[in-house]
Amino acid sequence: VAFSTSAQSADNFPTKPINMVVPFAAGGPTDSVARSLAEAMRPTLKQTVIVENKAGAGGTLGSSYVSRANPDGYTVLLMHVGFTTAPSLYKKPNYNPIDGFEPIGLVVDVPMTIVGRSDFPANNIKELVEYVKKNKDKVSLANAGIGAASHLCGVMFANGVGVDLLTVPYKGTGPAMNDLVGKQVDLLCDQTTNTTQQIKANTIKAYAVTSKERVPTLPDLPTMEESGFKGFEVGIWHGMWVPKNTPAPVRAKLLEALQAGLADPKFQERMAGLGAQVLTKDANPAALDAKVKQQVPQWAELFKKAGVEPQ
Ligand code: MLT
Repeated sequence: VAFSTSAQSADNFPTKPINMVVPFAAGGPTDSVARSLAEAMRPTLKQTVIVENKAGAGGTLGSSYVSRANPDGYTVLLMHVGFTTAPSLYKKPNYNPIDGFEPIGLVVDVPMTIVGRSDFPANNIKELVEYVKKNKDKVSLANAGIGAASHLCGVMFANGVGVDLLTVPYKGTGPAMNDLVGKQVDLLCDQTTNTTQQIKANTIKAYAVTSKERVPTLPDLPTMEESGFKGFEVGIWHGMWVPKNTPAPVRAKLLEALQAGLADPKFQERMAGLGAQVLTKDANPAALDAKVKQQVPQWAELFKKAGVEPQ
């Protein structure tokens, strides 16, 4: 007898490849985490996880796409802190981070680095601050659009220095990095998952790291705090979500695959090499739900105080 109920298909999940949506361009930091994770989740799911880049508008395009996708588990979102900042940076946010999704769990936490093109005149963070102050009309700062981690860090950096900088938006910091290496743009604040290899290859200059402590993979890089930026600490946490009303058995299977993926030594090694911390303990719906509910109002408040107007 051929019959199919949604409960039955949920129990068999997954019977076909899963799309992991990255709301930024390919070749960037979120993409890099997603591709490693997709591979690490595969043995549990016994299906391929295909990374799909739906870039635009600081990550809000891809996030809203997932909130409107079929709630069947075949479309999952891999996004970072911008998931909670963007709604208060846009006048008409096109998704609701609290009501539009079911959280699966936290994934990794990634420090950021302030980097510049290889021939940028400043050689250290002190010189960078001086140069930027003197040349504020000439210096260009790349980012991945309003609401992106690089945007957030760029705003904090410019505020810390006390200047407004010309910003150049990209669909992700993957393409922004290409232009930085190509010397088409001056500065970028970006996650170590995208900057580590370029810093080590000396194709860009690195000034400071935004974590509280120095990063073991880039031990010579001072923290922002050490460099005189009091309280300048940003960590880019990443999470995984599915659309609201995705059945519980489907979410349970994705959670099992996420936890197994994070425990995979190959995934851990890759992330450690890129300066990222794997959030094994918080890879669960309760931890991600709590994070989102805490951060959405916190960012809204912070932007209001800083006078950052929604666009
Ligand atoms: C990306 O993958 O391009 C990013 O995570 C960009 C960002 O948020 O700065």
